Amino acid sequence: MVTRHSIQDASDYMMAHKAHVDDSCRIHVRAKVVVHDTFNGTASARTKSKLGKSGSGKQLLALQEDMQQRIASDLHDSTCQHLLAASLNMMRMRCAVAGIGSAIKICDEIDASIGEALREIRAFTYLLHPQNLLDGGLKSAIEEFAVGLSSRTSLETHLKIDAAVDALPNDTQRSLLRVVQEALANVFRHAKATQVTISIKATDTNVTLRISDNGCGMPISQARDGHQAVSFGVGIPAMRARLDQMGGTFEIHSSSTAVCSGTTVHATIPRATSRKGNKPVNIHRGGRGSAKIRPSHG
Ligand SMILES: Nc1ncnc2c1ncn2[C@@H]1O[C@H](COP(=O)(O)OP(=O)(O)OP(=O)(O)O)[C@@H](O)[C@H]1O
Ligand SMILES: [Mg+2]
Repeated sequence: MVTRHSIQDASDYMMAHKAHVDDSCRIHVRAKVVVHDTFNGTASARTKSKLGKSGSGKQLLALQEDMQQRIASDLHDSTCQHLLAASLNMMRMRCAVAGIGSAIKICDEIDASIGEALREIRAFTYLLHPQNLLDGGLKSAIEEFAVGLSSRTSLETHLKIDAAVDALPNDTQRSLLRVVQEALANVFRHAKATQVTISIKATDTNVTLRISDNGCGMPISQARDGHQAVSFGVGIPAMRARLDQMGGTFEIHSSSTAVCSGTTVHATIPRATSRKGNKPVNIHRGGRGSAKIRPSHG
């Protein structure tokens, strides 16, 4: 039977869950802006003094990993639970509005949205959670990660990874795994892609990593106006910092004019090097509609 109180009760619950989700989003956005500003050298004096001189390298990457782990845990342990509770309240709501066709239709739509949000959060927490290098090394770690990603999303993954990558130093393997993880998170969140290919080639002199998707590409304005000016993202700065630490190069090739021409992340590292650089990244537009982000040497 429909009672005003039962509907009010259920919608109060829904609003409480929404408020919780909003709050935790606001906290994470604030944390992210701090990390973003620090990566890009625009952090406040207070933040800079907290991070100290090493704030541009390892410490920042550790901070970003820590932040991602917290976001993943919060999303999984708290936000997911609130969504599940909201879903249970929808069952109560359905009983309360039984017989009212228009209300049932709204319940169906809310249920579908909650289901979609839960699926997205589960895929997202999987992508955010730093994967560990398994005993099998980088090749099998990426393979397992890709299988897990495909099973949680509609993204098809193709892998071409030289077995020689398992002979790289552990730190290098771990950093490459993080770069792959970060790039895949971007494909999942931004590219609207159906396929992604990860290839790693290792020769005696260098290692080349390429992650290409068949998605929508990056907006031209993003390339023209300067990527960092329009995004508070820390994923690309973090990938760049990792490559920088390994003395490597980092480029993104993207086009949003051609249909599904996608984005390619391209990185190379020299083998057996410990060179550390601190190169700024310039944004270059390639041909018509193509964005190229690469480190400048100087
Ligand atoms: N594969 C991709 N396809 C389309 N757009 C992309 C892709 N990768 C990155 N982008 C664009 O570049 C922006 C910056 O990416 P970045 O990883 O630095 O930040 P983010 O993903 O927005 O946030 P964060 O990684 O901090 O959670 C994204 O917001 C998105 O617009
Ligand atoms: Mg990102």
